[in-house]
Amino acid sequence: MRLPGDKSISHRALIFGALATGTTRIRGLLEAEDVVNTARAVSALGAAAEKHGDVWEVKGRGPGGLRQPAGPLDFGNSGTGTRLMMGVVAGHPITVEMTGDASLSRRPMRRVLGPLMQMGLQVLEPGKETLPLTLRGCSDLIPIIYPLPVPSAQVKSAVLLAGLHAAGETTVIEHEATRDHTERMLRYFGADVRIVDKDGARYITVKGDAELSGRDIVVPGDPSSAAFLAAAALIVPGSDITIEGVLVNPTRTGLYTTLQEMGGDIAFLNEREEGGEPIADVRVRASELKGVRVPAERAPSMIDEYPVLAAISAFAKGTTQMDGLAELKVKESDRLQATATGLEVNGVSVRIDGDSLIVDGKQRMRGGGSVATHLDHRIAMAFLTAGLASDKPIVVDDTSMIATSFPEFQGMMETLGARFEEAPEQ
Ligand code: S3P
Repeated sequence: MRLPGDKSISHRALIFGALATGTTRIRGLLEAEDVVNTARAVSALGAAAEKHGDVWEVKGRGPGGLRQPAGPLDFGNSGTGTRLMMGVVAGHPITVEMTGDASLSRRPMRRVLGPLMQMGLQVLEPGKETLPLTLRGCSDLIPIIYPLPVPSAQVKSAVLLAGLHAAGETTVIEHEATRDHTERMLRYFGADVRIVDKDGARYITVKGDAELSGRDIVVPGDPSSAAFLAAAALIVPGSDITIEGVLVNPTRTGLYTTLQEMGGDIAFLNEREEGGEPIADVRVRASELKGVRVPAERAPSMIDEYPVLAAISAFAKGTTQMDGLAELKVKESDRLQATATGLEVNGVSVRIDGDSLIVDGKQRMRGGGSVATHLDHRIAMAFLTAGLASDKPIVVDDTSMIATSFPEFQGMMETLGARFEEAPEQ
């Protein structure tokens, strides 16, 4: 199987392309709703993003060159698009209204607005911390040194993007390594980024008044989407699949490490580098899994993969305990609760204990339950995947959100032998 492009890298390629001088050409861009909304947003800000043949081209406006959009920017379901663009808007003397769907309008924005306001961003609805919001940026941001209060690549990226437009050096300090695509890609575009590891923390410094130049980018396959195919292969007897060209950046591969510890037969073949990121072909064969304890430190490197890991933990022998899941509560849904409830209605014994999720693996799942997805694509895909091996089929209440990250999900699963049916009204 060949997977669509990584969502995190796709958002960044469009946004950095918009800030660069000259044209950026992107191959393998993920054409899912979240990313298409970011493409529309950069176009509305004056950096036309258009597809020509297989290639997306972004006509960059150069640093500080974005212009006031004619109307509100709608980010749909995407926290990444919203938060990264807040960092961009902060550094431009423009006023921008940002909106999103019901899920995104509930998600916390203070984590990004806090540091950006220290730098000089204004929020025109004082005290408001959820979308819709109107932001006013400026061309003389103040550089800051910002220790991340939560392990979030989105917050880190927003501050670094604003830092590109500040007078001086902006530093983000992270105590737990989060995905580092922003740092890698900023360097690739020519920004001055310094990374220092000191006393167990990472200090990431970007120089302001940066000059970025348009680049050619190839987006690797999304490991968070590959996770569903890998999980399916592990739990469906007789499976043997190879997923080509998957991003294997160590800040993203926590799930694969965990699955190997559970006894999953997973091999990384043909490891290579593409556009500054490591990629590999991932071969996964059906395996007998055993329960494990997943340490809290690993959470940032597999934050989007807990729903599917929890779902397939039911097929393992013994208990799987996943620690350090506080951030799961503020994703597209409260994923900690949505995952636990979804397992429960399908006959799995599961418990939430503080920030931990504990699943009692019995090497099978009864299934037959109807899962509430709460506008969350990964809840839908995790439980459809579990349904491939459950005793009775699993129903999810909504599949429309899958298009936000992995529109090819159903088709690819069908190619591998899965069957989907429309459930009768309940
Ligand atoms: C992302 C970072 C993660 C992740 C999201 C994409 C990114 O969020 O959950 O799907 O592209 O930076 P946080 O950084 O807020 O944890």
